[in-house]
Amino acid sequence: MEKPKHHIFVCASFRVGGAPKGICEKKGSADFLGYLENELIDRGLDGVLVSSTGCLKVCDRGPAMVIYPENIWYGGIDGEDALDEIIDAIENEGVADKYLIS
Ligand code: FES
Repeated sequence: MEKPKHHIFVCASFRVGGAPKGICEKKGSADFLGYLENELIDRGLDGVLVSSTGCLKVCDRGPAMVIYPENIWYGGIDGEDALDEIIDAIENEGVADKYLIS
């Protein structure tokens, strides 16, 4: 496998010990993974990897995700429209300002 150009880490609220505990998982972040992967395929966007991760420690801004290597953090991701904006930003090499955690 080639290294991804962009790696999206979606907070799944996991804590030490593995149990999810936090706002992101409660607000449906687990469903974001499948949506993102399907949308990336539909758009033919290669080189973008999607993974779930433990708590990103920005719970008050969740649901949250971070994209590397850009180190772009997003929060308040409230559904598919938000995810579409974020994928648009990746596609256009920009930033989805509305969800940016600065
Ligand atoms: S649970 Fe997602 S940032 Fe903490």
